[in-house]
Amino acid sequence: MSRYMVTSALPYANGPKHLGHLAGAYLPADIYVRYIRMSGNDVLFCSGTDEHGVPITIAAEKMGITPMEVVNKYHDIIAGDFKRFGIIFDNFSRTTRPEHIEFAQSVFLDLLEKEYILPKDMKQLYCPDCKRYLPDRYINGTCPKCGSEDARGDQCESCGTWTEAFELINPRCGICGATPETRVTRHWFLLLDRFQEWLEGWLGGQSDWKTNVLKYCHSWLSDGLRERAITRDISWGVPVPLEEAKGKVLYVWFEAVLGYISSTMEYFSKAGKDPDEWRKYWQDPETKLVQFIGKDNIVFHCIIEPSLLHGLGNFNLPWNVPANEYLNISGQKFSTSRGTGINMGDYLDHFDPDPMRYALVVNAPENRDSDFSWREYQTRNNELADVLGNFINRTLKFTLSKFEGRVPSADLDMTLLNRAGETAEEIAVLMESFRFKKAIGVAMELAREGNRYFDTAKPWKSLKTDPDQCAVTVATCLNLCVSLAVIFEPFIPFSAEKIRRMLGLDELKWSDAGTVLLESGLKLGEAEILFKKLEDGFEKVMDKSETPLVEENVEETPEVDFEEFMKIEFKVGRILSVEDIKKAKKLYKVEVDTGDRVRTVVAGMKPHYTKEELQGRLVAVVCNLKPAKLCGVMSHGMLMASDGESGVFLLEPAADSKPGDTIK
Ligand code: 2FM
Ligand code: ZN
Repeated sequence: MSRYMVTSALPYANGPKHLGHLAGAYLPADIYVRYIRMSGNDVLFCSGTDEHGVPITIAAEKMGITPMEVVNKYHDIIAGDFKRFGIIFDNFSRTTRPEHIEFAQSVFLDLLEKEYILPKDMKQLYCPDCKRYLPDRYINGTCPKCGSEDARGDQCESCGTWTEAFELINPRCGICGATPETRVTRHWFLLLDRFQEWLEGWLGGQSDWKTNVLKYCHSWLSDGLRERAITRDISWGVPVPLEEAKGKVLYVWFEAVLGYISSTMEYFSKAGKDPDEWRKYWQDPETKLVQFIGKDNIVFHCIIEPSLLHGLGNFNLPWNVPANEYLNISGQKFSTSRGTGINMGDYLDHFDPDPMRYALVVNAPENRDSDFSWREYQTRNNELADVLGNFINRTLKFTLSKFEGRVPSADLDMTLLNRAGETAEEIAVLMESFRFKKAIGVAMELAREGNRYFDTAKPWKSLKTDPDQCAVTVATCLNLCVSLAVIFEPFIPFSAEKIRRMLGLDELKWSDAGTVLLESGLKLGEAEILFKKLEDGFEKVMDKSETPLVEENVEETPEVDFEEFMKIEFKVGRILSVEDIKKAKKLYKVEVDTGDRVRTVVAGMKPHYTKEELQGRLVAVVCNLKPAKLCGVMSHGMLMASDGESGVFLLEPAADSKPGDTIK
């Protein structure tokens, strides 16, 4: 028996997670954990939500709620969706827990004392219009390494590079689009260069890791590692535990990777457990640390995290980091924030988890990006129904109708059952080398073999001509059902459980595959249909999904009292003048006559109307909105417009109305 510590990347609690996330870091981990556990090993599977950093503050700003409200909401949604998909963590924690914060701060101080961390003045980008520093995702620009125009201040998703904001080509403020200024401020740096030689040696010894992972690592090592700032000038995060760093927080990636350890600590701090036992999983060199991530996280798990753990001195290093590439959808990147993607929860509101688990493993982006399409999903769902579902169903139904639902007494056909045992061994080798896609193909092949056996043996004929032979066929097929329940369990656990229930069995071990577990005379349970076939157009039901697929729209619409509504002052206004705002791509500064006064309104109409089209126009204005500064201009109202697929259109009061008329 071996001991394993398995982790899946801590997802940002900034929105619901989509099928791309599931396929990348969660489903493979869950499959692995289930297999390892069924094989009799000790395994602990921990993760949690990543609740700090700019991804959270950006979501909060967009949604008009606090970062804490964002993470409270999405932690629950994400944890719930994983559970519904059968991703069973031993602990799913949160990085805003005080215990995590304390642990991250203690690691910072430890590494500071060991002089792996030092303070230094550095260049930071600052937006003169928004009057704020622009760390990480608050900056967009062109990646200095691969030229992608979509790079952010801390990372380029195209090539996985950990970028420095001030090195981006043509940097722009992510909020208003302005060109930022450079200012000098003090930050604390992780001296990664001090780990270069050690990392080269350590990574050099990992020749059994996936080649895509090693390729990324060697490319960073050959560029040469440099010191990196691990503190930020924002208020949402783990405070830097130093008086002189007041107001600064730890860079989210510095603390997030420590979230795996604090999640394990939390697991053992629960009632009835030894609070020190987490050490067995993180510090006992016998334990194998396996970390599942997507490719954009490789640098953080193969360079940063090992450096921190090595710097601390008494922690295990990752035994393997089987990172996946990306799952695309019909050729496009899966991204809920860009409106291309299917959220886990939306899918589960309409369909069962197992067919998607199966489809995602068959098309897993193990070595290169792969593509999801509903057509492919339909094919895989129907394959489950036609091959595995059909074999289980015909075997069970036949036993129920012809043998009174009892396992017939017979000498079994061991050729087929031995074949099942060999299949389980073959799959074990594939699982242990993280080749789940190949493994599920081998599993399905055994189900096909079961169907061929049934077809060739023709029990419906032998029942009359040779009842003993018929009993052999049925008892053999029933025992093959057990083997199938074993080998499919890591991939499609809900269906495997149904098969077990039909066979009247409880938990199964991996070593049960290929053995004879069903004794003659045993009474079987009821037959259940495992998978329903899908007709063309089945996916249309998703369009009617009550939860929209786009992350920004997921807020439920709150109800408003009539009195509340009546507090809003809507008036007819006439646009007197329109000006550009320096460096703002989407905004105009508009002077509007609303009868009582001429008010300045900042309106995001530039992509939709020319200045000439707006000049002199009657508009509907919300007059008593709290004034707000946008790109340096105070706005005293809002122009009302419709916004939909057909475009953005200003609401237009009737030509006879006059500025100052109230709108009710
Ligand atoms: O990419 C992400 O979603 C990050 N939140 C992953 C963090 S993994 C670990 F470091 F916590
Ligand atoms: Zn790049």
